[in-house]
Amino acid sequence: MSDNLIKILSFNTFSKEDIVTLLSVKSEAEREHVFNKAESIREESVGKNIYLRGLIELSNICEKNCLYCGIRAGNKQVERYIVSEKDVIASINHALEKNYGSVVIQSGERTDEEFVEMIDGVIKKIKTISDGKLGITLSCGEQTPETYRKWYKSGAHRYLLRIETSDPELYYKIHPQNKKHFLVNRLVALRHLREIGYQVGSGVMIGLPGQTVSQLADDLLFLKQMDVDMVGMGPYIEHKHTPLYQFSNNLIPKAERLNLSLVMIAVLRIMMKNINIASSTALDSLDSNGRLLAIKAGANVLMPNLTPVKYRENYFLYDNKPYLTEADELVENIGSSEILKGYLIKLGEWGDSAHFFPDRNKIGLCKIQL
Ligand code: 5AD
Ligand code: SF4
Repeated sequence: MSDNLIKILSFNTFSKEDIVTLLSVKSEAEREHVFNKAESIREESVGKNIYLRGLIELSNICEKNCLYCGIRAGNKQVERYIVSEKDVIASINHALEKNYGSVVIQSGERTDEEFVEMIDGVIKKIKTISDGKLGITLSCGEQTPETYRKWYKSGAHRYLLRIETSDPELYYKIHPQNKKHFLVNRLVALRHLREIGYQVGSGVMIGLPGQTVSQLADDLLFLKQMDVDMVGMGPYIEHKHTPLYQFSNNLIPKAERLNLSLVMIAVLRIMMKNINIASSTALDSLDSNGRLLAIKAGANVLMPNLTPVKYRENYFLYDNKPYLTEADELVENIGSSEILKGYLIKLGEWGDSAHFFPDRNKIGLCKIQL
């Protein structure tokens, strides 16, 4: 173990150079050292709890054309769907039966009135069917403040909007350069969410073509500066029917991408002690235990997939997306998992971010220069 690594891990705050050093660790032993530090911070700040959010991938209809995403508008090979009302109700009941405590409504991005009303209806349905018991996270992209406010009033209280990368140059390499994909609009949307009162989450993709460790260090500093309450970040996984696929020869190998993603989570946990960090589904495309390894690296939220199976093959954001069968076996068997011995699965709780307190909405993110 290098003395430098031990020294850096004893610091209270990290410089960019420190983060680059941590993200560059190469040996198993050094990685374990970083994970152990993250684990001890996690234990003293948020405990060994794991919160569950049943994920409903409500619709794959999307107006956007992100160059990496399998359900981008330009991919004509995808059959588009909206989960029927009957199936939404079945998924909500499924979450209640399993006592998951919270659900996440994720969807491709649309801003038309019909969509806004549909999401609003689903939020209200979740609240009535569960008698107010289920917490609700939304992940439905960039919307106007009016829309965000409407959904908040109907009962949504957490919102995840990934920035994907904080580096403007890389951002425009992975998005079309037009007004539907302006980086500044995402920052403005995050600010609106915060001002309205949501617990706000963001995140990035790890291992994008040409992405450097220096850019990833900036991503972590960016999330810290934004003072987000939650983070969902995971590996970039190529998808054949997307423009970014042509750069697949410029990717780090999958085993390294997994390790880098896990170290990113661990370093973030050390930097932002009491936030909620979700274990991203994309990790399971790299290793069948990927999501569990992320918990050991510092994540504290798991999202079992509740989308009815018949829709799932059309929600392939990336190749090899797992879980085409009804049960999310990993979560079903979590109690007996050797890897997760000693962790507590919290059932029936919202599992809000310990980092969030309402008055902070007036500070933090709102200081960000746009
Ligand atoms: N690999 C990994 N994650 C992806 N996402 C979209 N496409 C991919 C991909 N190819 C993620 C983005 C988006 C979220 C819904 O899914 O980060 O915000
Ligand atoms: Fe649409 Fe989100 Fe995919 Fe972009 S990443 S194309 S906004 S679903």
